[in-house]
Amino acid sequence: MASWNVTLSDAGPAEAPVFLRITHGVIEDIRRGRLKPGQRLPGTRAWANALDVNRNTVVAAVAELEAQGWVRSTPTRGTWVQEQLPVEPRLARRPGLPPLAVHLAPPPPFLTERRFTLPDDVMHLSAGTPDPRLFPVELIARTWRRVVRRKGRHLLEYGDPAGHPSLRRALANMVADLRGVPATMEQVVVTRGSQMALDLIARAVVAPGETVAVEALGYRPAWDALRLIGAKLEPIPVDDEGLNVEALAKVMRRRHVRAVYVTPHHQYPTTVTMSAARRLALLELARKHRVLIIEDDYDHEFHYQGRPVLPLLAGDDSGVVASVGTLSKVLAPGLRLGFIVAPTELAQRVARLRAVMDRQGDHPMEATVAELIEEGELQRHVRKMRVIYERRRDALAKLLETRLGDTLSFELPTGGISLWAKVRRPLALDTWLSRAQHRGVVVNPGSVYRFDGHEPGALRLVFARFTEGELASAVEVLRATAPR
Ligand SMILES: Cc1ncc(COP(=O)(O)O)c(C=O)c1O
Repeated sequence: MASWNVTLSDAGPAEAPVFLRITHGVIEDIRRGRLKPGQRLPGTRAWANALDVNRNTVVAAVAELEAQGWVRSTPTRGTWVQEQLPVEPRLARRPGLPPLAVHLAPPPPFLTERRFTLPDDVMHLSAGTPDPRLFPVELIARTWRRVVRRKGRHLLEYGDPAGHPSLRRALANMVADLRGVPATMEQVVVTRGSQMALDLIARAVVAPGETVAVEALGYRPAWDALRLIGAKLEPIPVDDEGLNVEALAKVMRRRHVRAVYVTPHHQYPTTVTMSAARRLALLELARKHRVLIIEDDYDHEFHYQGRPVLPLLAGDDSGVVASVGTLSKVLAPGLRLGFIVAPTELAQRVARLRAVMDRQGDHPMEATVAELIEEGELQRHVRKMRVIYERRRDALAKLLETRLGDTLSFELPTGGISLWAKVRRPLALDTWLSRAQHRGVVVNPGSVYRFDGHEPGALRLVFARFTEGELASAVEVLRATAPR
């Protein structure tokens, strides 16, 4: 025993308190066998002298070791290494697990190897996310800390799978005030982003093999969520009034359609707002066939000219619309917060399904965002972003007109974070986009928005993510690389 000397561990963060460095030093020695089970340790005064630290620091280290089960201490008699050491996983310092060696069911064909993170060293001009430099990081962090401190015990318990009541209430108020939707909080279910919302609605409404009509051009992640639960998709064309409801009606006369997925506020990706006549016709068609309209209202708050058109749900008095919303654009996509507003029976069914799949959401974060809404902070943030995004929209529009006017044409979008630019002249789009990518500007080929994967001769360009200077540089790259 006399040969053992207490040491401070260098493992762990450099700023770790001294008592923890002592604790870790002792644990390392026990693990390595330098200290044996049952061995008696020197008195705390001796440790304190050896390390030149206050004795209280050593006392705290011994208390920590005892709490973790490494030593046992008897007042005035001494401290011993435990006979039965805490069971620890063996620390395997291997480069990874062995390769998978079992047979798997075939993967769904749409599970592509797409990249899920945006590289820092390129400008991704088709990435539909807000500017991360404008995320209200401090505000979220401060509010989270305050909320968890105040209500942590309750928030860290199991809770309601439909979402934390404070956020359901705040969202119900928000959609009433801003979107004209008279929903109660019982008709709101919080989800992890609209992607989960779409999955849950699909599971709640559609049986495998049934048909769901979708917009084409359209939003592929929604198509994939529907396909994942076994839905067959029926592509319906879109034009400059949004979804072609006449074409949908024709399909519905021919075959049974269980639901229709639409983005009426700003059609994705063309940004067109669905005309009033089409809205009425769509609601009427859904009512007649008792078919659910899944309305993806993903960017309602970003509207630059006049008042935003109200969602279909606001005009639905027959109970045929479920609306999906997201905080990915107004706050940040990494929060994974979305929501469903739907008639009570559907909301309840969705919540029960959610409990099976995910038990519940992140209630501490949900309560945090509820507070941001109740205090008007979210609305303030949106107002600030709206001004910035409108400026960026105008800047990109001007740049495209002046620098690429012979190659691209577009209608100025009335809202949202992107514009849809059509290619004016025959050119090798693949060559163009790959040349631009080599110079650090990434634009998705328009084919990703088309149901048949063909090239539509158009591109989705996002303006919200970049400053006016950055947009100017990106447009210069596009101009310099465009085939003549
Ligand atoms: C049509 C559409 N719906 C929903 C979303 C948001 O998805 P989520 O809430 O899963 O982040 C986006 C964002 O890109 C979108 O473009």
